[in-house]
Amino acid sequence: MSRPREAELELDDIQRGALSPRPTPYAATYLLFRIDDRVHGRELMRRASTAVTSAAESVSPLGATWVSVAVTCTGLAALGVPRSSLDTFAWEFRQGMAARAKALADVGESSPENWEAPLGSSGVHVALTAVAPDPQLLTAALDRARPAYDRLPGVTAVWRQDCYALPTETEHFGYRDGVSHPAVEGSGIPGSNELEVPLKAGEFILGYRDELGGIQAPQPDVLGRNGSYAVFRKLHQQVAGFRRYLKDNSTGPADEELIAAKIMGRWRSGAPLALAPQRDDPGLGVDPHRRNTFLYERDDPTGFDTPRGCHIRRANPRDASVAGEVRLHRMIRRGAVYGPPLPEGVLEDDGADRGLMFAFIGAHLGRQFEFVQSQWINDGVFFGGNDAKDPVVGSADGATGYTIPRRPVRRRLVALPQFVVTRGGEYCFLPSLSALRWL
Ligand code: HEM
Repeated sequence: MSRPREAELELDDIQRGALSPRPTPYAATYLLFRIDDRVHGRELMRRASTAVTSAAESVSPLGATWVSVAVTCTGLAALGVPRSSLDTFAWEFRQGMAARAKALADVGESSPENWEAPLGSSGVHVALTAVAPDPQLLTAALDRARPAYDRLPGVTAVWRQDCYALPTETEHFGYRDGVSHPAVEGSGIPGSNELEVPLKAGEFILGYRDELGGIQAPQPDVLGRNGSYAVFRKLHQQVAGFRRYLKDNSTGPADEELIAAKIMGRWRSGAPLALAPQRDDPGLGVDPHRRNTFLYERDDPTGFDTPRGCHIRRANPRDASVAGEVRLHRMIRRGAVYGPPLPEGVLEDDGADRGLMFAFIGAHLGRQFEFVQSQWINDGVFFGGNDAKDPVVGSADGATGYTIPRRPVRRRLVALPQFVVTRGGEYCFLPSLSALRWL
């Protein structure tokens, strides 16, 4: 039975991967498993529970290193969780990401039939993620986790993705990432924006009161509470195409940087247009106390500085009232870069696969991840852009454009290509440590 609890989070039962921001720099590995044998699958869960780090261990001897384990819906079924329990999980989770392709704008090149096997198939059951501040510590973390899955009959590793921070500390398009994250009541982890009132724990952790006053937790309680939903998506980035588009649509290097900032909402340094509207301020971009403390409706309601349709204003309109309360659509993000960087200045595609392993944590797959992905990123109506989509990560089809209003002068970008292609992904459940033992 769900207990009505306020903000006293049981941190020692919650996976650290749910709440902690990743270290900077970082190295991370995603490992996926298929379970063909229920008994050994359950043994994997039991052993994994000893390798998984809890949110209470915020200072481990190995620094910011952790291992987390998540399960898909077909994974829960393969572990023998009965239908009556599965039916208490979120509808979107039960469908799986591939079945939600249309809603997520995973169409054309991004559609599931083009995904990397076995992503999106019924044969992906368990995801183990290890995160560390550098490759050596990552190898050590993976070595420590290996006994959990090694030589277990009926447990097969089916996919692996290694991720390493770029030397530039940016994602592949060249922007600093991992800047903005919400504060969660009771987590002890400060949010990045002092102007944002911390969100109720139930927005991210199941079994606690959320912003609407409700408590969501799949049943039985031992399985559902202290868990979260986790989404990961392998997003390929067309870096050469992105660079070429900026070059072809600008009058020179300074103009190129301005346009790059106007479509993201931040200069590549991380400095936000809201606080540095005229020119880049690299010192601001690395200042965690200042670079995220701003609002839009209060400070720039017209969007003259930070265009209403840019990536960060769409993904988190902050104090705006667009399609309901913004607080109901916040998310914890964990982006990790994969693939080699495209050397600076190269404008031709070299055929290498590079991009972002996007990860989401939250208690509400529908109103958090799916809403932002489908409405705010891929539907322009709320942002006055009609059929325009997010200019950086939206599923553009070359037909739509993007308007940079006024400052410094009004500009219209046309025929925006699609810069990000989905290569696959999964909807997962990140169980508590006691649920891992129970499974
Ligand atoms: C912020 C890049 C996909 C949601 C950012 C930032 C960058 C970025 C550079 C600014 C730094 C920061 O605030 O941490 C990218 C790239 C993507 C991608 C390169 C794809 C390859 C997505 C997707 C979603 C998303 C798919 C959601 C479904 C957000 C949110 C923020 C953000 C919520 C924080 C906005 C704020 O609080 O100000 N992204 N992103 N991003 N992104 Fe993305």
